[in-house]
Amino acid sequence: MIKKQEGNPLDLRHWLEEIEAEGELTKVDGADWNLEIGAISELNVKKAQNSALLFDQITGYREGFRVLTCSTSSPKRLASILRLDVDSTHKSLVTGLRGKPKQWEKESVDYEPVYTEDGPIFENVQSGEEVDLFTFPSPLWHEKDGGRYIGTGCSVVTKDYDSDWINVGTYRVMIHDKNHVGLDMVPGKHGHIQYEKYEKAGKPFPVAIVIGADPLHYLISGIEVPFGKCEYHYIGSILKEPVSVVQTQLTGLPVPSASEIVIEGWIHPGETKIEGPFGEFHGYYPAAASPAPVVKIERIYYRDNPIIMGSPPAKPPNDYSYSKAVMRSALLFDAVEAAGIPDVKGVWAHEIGGSRMFTVISIKQRYAGHARQAGHVLSQCGVGSYLGRYSIVVDEDIDPANLAEVMWAVSTRTDPELDIDIIKRAMGSKNDPMKIAYPYKAPFSSRAIIDACRPYDYINEFPEVAEASKELQESTLKKWAHLF
Ligand SMILES: Cc1cc2nc3c(=O)[nH]c(=O)nc-3n(C[C@H](O)[C@H](O)[C@H](O)COP(=O)(O)O)c2cc1C
Repeated sequence: MIKKQEGNPLDLRHWLEEIEAEGELTKVDGADWNLEIGAISELNVKKAQNSALLFDQITGYREGFRVLTCSTSSPKRLASILRLDVDSTHKSLVTGLRGKPKQWEKESVDYEPVYTEDGPIFENVQSGEEVDLFTFPSPLWHEKDGGRYIGTGCSVVTKDYDSDWINVGTYRVMIHDKNHVGLDMVPGKHGHIQYEKYEKAGKPFPVAIVIGADPLHYLISGIEVPFGKCEYHYIGSILKEPVSVVQTQLTGLPVPSASEIVIEGWIHPGETKIEGPFGEFHGYYPAAASPAPVVKIERIYYRDNPIIMGSPPAKPPNDYSYSKAVMRSALLFDAVEAAGIPDVKGVWAHEIGGSRMFTVISIKQRYAGHARQAGHVLSQCGVGSYLGRYSIVVDEDIDPANLAEVMWAVSTRTDPELDIDIIKRAMGSKNDPMKIAYPYKAPFSSRAIIDACRPYDYINEFPEVAEASKELQESTLKKWAHLF
């Protein structure tokens, strides 16, 4: 467990000091923004044990202008970001998170952000003609990307047209030129709903984009906080203290006072430009470049020696798939229990399925039909429904997070004809890489629920597992520790 941070809790630099002391940070000097930072980060995150990477002395840039990647991709770092006092295993993280989103929501009303006059974010200001987004070493992350993305692990701050609701959402931000960026907000996302209201009224839409803060900031702006609620309140309830914000000079939007970089401007009604393509969380470019709203950046604020928070999607495991796996597993666990499924032992939303398309639940079977019930609820509950694919139910002797064990159960405890249920025309996505092969007009897709539990009616006759007992394994590991 990394110790609790002191000072402004959303100051990324405190967090970096702490993870460095724990051996969870590697500094990389001399990489190129042009594909090298992206490729190094991608290979790093695929290692079983990886650290966060802090890039400095980036080709063509001043020393101190840095990029951070892989911040959320280890159990230890994630536990520290979520302020969870748990040992660093997948299971303890999921257990530690269970019930927390509900608790954060309940307590969030008590954590109104606190406005301060000043903050490190105002150390440097560019305005008007000085504005130059190329001041910062925004990476070209992958060869097929449509441009350099300054915003991946970012948070886009916007305000509702006809209420005081401030929304903070993670949407990708591509640089068009020195003072314009493209903003890809999927329709239905809260930032997009707010944008549509301004567009309808023919008014410019004010936008402030936070490019770097403690990773808790983008972790929360990147999850579905309920409509009409402000993410700052949630962050406050996790920190157990209000978020310290300053108002930006142009639009007056609130941003964390210890942000690294903030870019600010307006989307003028109807102004779009071709944006993308950019990879998605499942590992594909599901769509060609297409028009997206353009933000004209009129002011940039940054700390001395600023740090871009990078978190690009790619073929999983990717930069943020681990954090999504943990968060979604806890939400799914809560949801299936709330739906009345008894004796759930574990849930895991595997990274290989973008933490959505391949989910596993383990249960202690209590009655005939228990396994199918668990699988169907896992597949169709609110958190599990969007772009699901395979939902697998295993017995309690199988670790749902261990893919080899899960697939062993699928291989040996199922008969495809008996044990795979198909749901047709379920909730799909326009981003589904398989949409090309579907007969549907609307974004439907099917689901497979695989019951990989021992058949309940033959549970006592089912063949014994051929492996050393837990006791024998433990005593052997103890006695022969030097071999393992
Ligand atoms: C690193 C990262 C990048 C993301 N990129 C996008 C994106 O480009 N467009 C989008 O609509 N959602 C994107 N998302 C998902 C949204 O952040 C997520 O749905 C969030 O709930 C949106 O905020 P909202 O609920 O306030 O709209 C991304 C999430 C993460 C973690």
